[in-house]
Amino acid sequence: MTMALPLPALLPTYAPYPFLLVRGEGDRVFDDRGQAWWDFYGGHCVCATGHSHPKVVKAVTDQAASLLFYSAAAALPVRDQAATRITAFAGMDSVFFCNSGAEANENALKVALLLTGRKKLASFEGGWHGRTLLALSVTDDPKITEPFTDQLVPTLRLPFGNLTALAAADFSGIAGVILEPIQSMAGIKTASREWFQALRAKCDEFGTLLIFDEIQTGMGRLGTPFAAQLYGVRPDLITSAKGLASGVPMGALLMSASVAAKLQGGDLGSTFGGGPLACAALLATVDVIESEGLMANARTAAARLRQELTGSVVTEVLGEGLLLGLRSAHAAALKKHLMSRNILVGGSGDPTVLRLMPPLNVSGEALITLITAIHAFAKP
Ligand SMILES: Cc1ncc(COP(=O)(O)O)c(C=O)c1O
Repeated sequence: MTMALPLPALLPTYAPYPFLLVRGEGDRVFDDRGQAWWDFYGGHCVCATGHSHPKVVKAVTDQAASLLFYSAAAALPVRDQAATRITAFAGMDSVFFCNSGAEANENALKVALLLTGRKKLASFEGGWHGRTLLALSVTDDPKITEPFTDQLVPTLRLPFGNLTALAAADFSGIAGVILEPIQSMAGIKTASREWFQALRAKCDEFGTLLIFDEIQTGMGRLGTPFAAQLYGVRPDLITSAKGLASGVPMGALLMSASVAAKLQGGDLGSTFGGGPLACAALLATVDVIESEGLMANARTAAARLRQELTGSVVTEVLGEGLLLGLRSAHAAALKKHLMSRNILVGGSGDPTVLRLMPPLNVSGEALITLITAIHAFAKP
């Protein structure tokens, strides 16, 4: 008789690193043996200001000591300040705070269905937007969507960045179209400014709401506050999470005045959304990004990687700012090699593309360590 193995108390989700992580500082994390690891995975693209930035830690600690939590049933100065700061940073007019990326996207899609009265959505091949049901409806990942096919909202799926397909698409009956301005999980896929402008024009023509999922591309990562500024297109809604509060769980649905004006009190809501701890962390995050020149650092670091990886096993550096893809025919072996040198990078849905999404204050020392390690890689 075979004995069943005991189930772990913690349900398995992602395949974890082969070490126990106990501490983080700037662009490095440390394991339980005191070994340092260069974090080009950025804590899952979350740690925009680096691990445990002292200003973020202080803001969170001070806030916890004065008021750990009250829901939106009470008006809080810290929440009002956070709303003013993030809308100004993003160039939008109004914000609804929630707790995660999927929740931000779920609410954005719900708003599109609610305000237009339409029943269909549109999204793009390779797009990834989260694990709740509306977010799954617009996600191109059969492994997680197929069990729920019958529960999903009908969605028109178009090829990303393709002008001809966009011109031919019929958006009548489409409530909202959602996209990652740079498709991350798909392997760091970009589109042209021209395509973004054509998409905006198409949405205007059909009364479809344009939703940018900036959960990875926002908060300065591309060298501009949001991708909306980089591509010169103002969407109707922007969703944010991940780097928004440097790792304190937080999501945001940023919107234009015309969307906000059509929403009634009570259409959206959340117990924890806009909690004081997350709002304090958001304020400190924007402060650090702006006062420490992190968007400029993202641009400079990207330029350096592009230049210094030429002639290595990496044949192409994809993406913008510090959301980068390293294309290599030997991506899997390269990832293992980097791991053996205590460098963490991400994989992607494209087996030839590794992803870099380090803290925006990634140091010169980290960059040179990565560049040296890549040049030292011996092709199998
Ligand atoms: C582009 C994008 N959208 C949405 C999500 C979902 O965010 P969360 O895991 O916070 O629900 C993710 C998460 O990886 C993401 O990368």
